[in-house]
Amino acid sequence: MKIYVPMDSAAKALGAEDVVAALRAEAPDADIIRTGTRGMIWLEPLVEVEIDGVRHGFGPAEPSDAAAILDGTSAKALGPVEDLEWMKRQTRLTFARVGVIDPLSLDDYEAHGGLKGLRVALDLSAQQIVDEVKTSGLRGRGGAGFPTGIKWQTVHDAEAPQKYIVCNADEGDSGTFADRMVMEGDPFTLIEGMAIAGLGVGATRGYVYLRSEYPDAIAVMTRAVELARAAGVLGSDILGSGRAFDMEIRKGAGAYVCGEETSLLNSLEGKRGVVRAKPPLPALEGFLGRPTVVNNVISLATVPVIFEKGAQHYADFGLGRSRGTVTLQIAGNVARGGLFETAFGISLGEVVNDLGGGTVSGRPVKAVQVGGPLGAYMPVSKFDTPLGYEEFDQAGGLIGHAGLTVFDDRTDMLGMARFAMEFCAVESCGKCTPCRIGAVRGVETLDRIAEGDAAALPLLTDLCETMTDGSLCALGGFTPFPVMSAVTHFPDDFARQKEAAE
Ligand code: NAI
Ligand code: SF4
Repeated sequence: MKIYVPMDSAAKALGAEDVVAALRAEAPDADIIRTGTRGMIWLEPLVEVEIDGVRHGFGPAEPSDAAAILDGTSAKALGPVEDLEWMKRQTRLTFARVGVIDPLSLDDYEAHGGLKGLRVALDLSAQQIVDEVKTSGLRGRGGAGFPTGIKWQTVHDAEAPQKYIVCNADEGDSGTFADRMVMEGDPFTLIEGMAIAGLGVGATRGYVYLRSEYPDAIAVMTRAVELARAAGVLGSDILGSGRAFDMEIRKGAGAYVCGEETSLLNSLEGKRGVVRAKPPLPALEGFLGRPTVVNNVISLATVPVIFEKGAQHYADFGLGRSRGTVTLQIAGNVARGGLFETAFGISLGEVVNDLGGGTVSGRPVKAVQVGGPLGAYMPVSKFDTPLGYEEFDQAGGLIGHAGLTVFDDRTDMLGMARFAMEFCAVESCGKCTPCRIGAVRGVETLDRIAEGDAAALPLLTDLCETMTDGSLCALGGFTPFPVMSAVTHFPDDFARQKEAAE
């Protein structure tokens, strides 16, 4: 009997290890395979039992459910996992294997389409590889949405004795977990994506800058690199082609600003994680001053499927200039939280109400923060906004890394605006004045508004404009998004504080 249980850290946090121990005690001879998560976090730990070749789900499982799951009498039976609404409605390209395979089995990886993309790329010239990525329309999934193929072209065209691929795995946005899930659930896809990037731009070395708060992802990625090297997927002769690419995992110490590419590079070089002025772009002068591709985990992990299925296949999904799929991370006060991969174009309301099932508290939704702590609070009146980079920009928001945090009607938006400013004050690298001083003054100004000081609101607006225009990086430059969206869409929360003070 084959049983699948995730070893993803979300599943572990919800008790997966105890469930595995109970299953082993009940059925010592069962073949228990550890996987990543399917992304339905409200069902974790989700146990899957193979019956007549079909994986049936049971969840959320507890150790006391083990016997009933094994003898087929469990009330937590969900039926075939692939038939669940959440799974059926997705277009899983980047996450196709996550939750399905054993993350540390290269055989399993290859049996599910792994390494096909790399083999295709090995038959192409460097320029053809870059052109494929351009045709796919892939844009940076870390948040900025910059066309990946154009970034690769800049590095490809740069003359240098050494170039690098750096994967930004410093996933720091609140409510985001897609990078972690893919690293824990399908690490070889990231390795394969980095190898293809290396072939495309002429880089022979890569680094994954992984945050220290992700110990499971670090362990899985480290082991996966060893296995890939032993199997010849990495090294001086990748897959017998005579082409070289190798990589290593580096642990970040946990500063939010080290997710910004230039402070990440400083940190990777062993320096303090302070933002560098751009230009020069990392594409021209990046790691150790050499041309460097800095891409997010999801961007790189999407590259193999583009080469496996063809750039046009990927580009055929999406909306406007947002091609392919978006890996939505639904979190906060929501009934069904988790990871949902779908073509760009789905509306915000459909994600929150239909997929997420509204709030877990059962109260009306008040706001959704899209794009992490630097993203705007979107009110219910904006729920018809389709998920697309330009569409969100026009609606006064940003998609960022595609994390959505849901809040119900009890949320005090002045408090949330204050939290955004305080977050910026705490995480600021201190290099530029609008952010270093502005965020501290912002907290003070919001406290004045809370005390009923009417003159403080225009001051806050002025301050936010200065931060937007004058900050060196997105941390100071984007903090006004959550602050001013709260002021604009929820003016009552700012006036109510004033009335209370009077
Ligand atoms: P950016 O717009 O300055 O740059 C985007 C990327 O394009 C960079 O890698 C840049 O070097 C590259 N680039 C620009 N012009 C280029 C050219 N001609 N050739 C080659 N490369 C070129 O944005 P930035 O500051 O890198 O990122 C800001 C975004 O980060 C925000 O939108 C925010 O959503 C996101 N973010 C994500 C977080 C996460 O945890 N994933 C955390 C915080 C912010
Ligand atoms: Fe540093 Fe803030 Fe300036 Fe960014 S905006 S460089 S985090 S001080």
